[in-house]
Amino acid sequence: MVSAKKKPIGIFDSGIGGLTVFKEIKEILPSEDLYYLGDTARVPYGTKSPEVIRRYAEGNIRFLVGQGAKVVVVACNTASATALDHVRAVFPDIPIIGVVEPVVKYLSSRSDTENIGVIGTTTTIGSGVYQSALESLGKTIRAKACPLFVPLVEEGIVVHPLVDQVIDYYLADFREVAIDTLVLGCTHYPLLRPALEAYFRNKVFIIDSAVPTAVALRDLLTRSGLSNDVSGKGEERFFVTDAAESFRRIGGRFLGRPLSTVEHI
Ligand code: DGL
Repeated sequence: MVSAKKKPIGIFDSGIGGLTVFKEIKEILPSEDLYYLGDTARVPYGTKSPEVIRRYAEGNIRFLVGQGAKVVVVACNTASATALDHVRAVFPDIPIIGVVEPVVKYLSSRSDTENIGVIGTTTTIGSGVYQSALESLGKTIRAKACPLFVPLVEEGIVVHPLVDQVIDYYLADFREVAIDTLVLGCTHYPLLRPALEAYFRNKVFIIDSAVPTAVALRDLLTRSGLSNDVSGKGEERFFVTDAAESFRRIGGRFLGRPLSTVEHI
């Protein structure tokens, strides 16, 4: 029987966005086996209701657990905002972490972030999770749903005048009130980071889910004695529910290396 430590880490998102979290996990936990699931048949999640997302998240985790996952990372803000309690109750034996708590925890440790803009999908912003958590830290919060960002990223359109126009359409008032921090409350949005930095003239601190979540995962593995203590490079597998070829192409471009095979499930 494979010892629990040697089992893979399961990671999922609606599409390629969670690769931003995958990349950071790979960076700080190189010897762990990482199994990534992109639910590309049902992307986007961000315009769907919490009930539907809970069902999708449960199915994704059931698949990853079936592949042997020892822990699961919900690399999706929409699912983290709406489904975390539900999936923790359904899978009480599997440690599950989301992306919202680690970002909030990180911001609670910084006193130079006072005037914060939060962007995310319609469902994440509608859930109010970031707003209430950050307001309780005494921060000033402005929140905005940016539903056109995800399809742009899924199409691989990340540097283009069209992107600049959409950013301006959503975020002109953030620039006007001079936010000091921008929370990318969707794991797809870091792919738009260069365009967002240019839009805010490099004057705004931009934080996304990747580093805080990877650090939280490392802490969780250490705490629960589940770290894979072998040296060497971990295995990686990518699963999608549709459109494997476009995931391989755009995901590979984003990770800066060809993806090993992408398995259609
Ligand atoms: N990347 C996901 C998130 O962080 C989901 C985006 C979507 O599918 O709408 O919210």
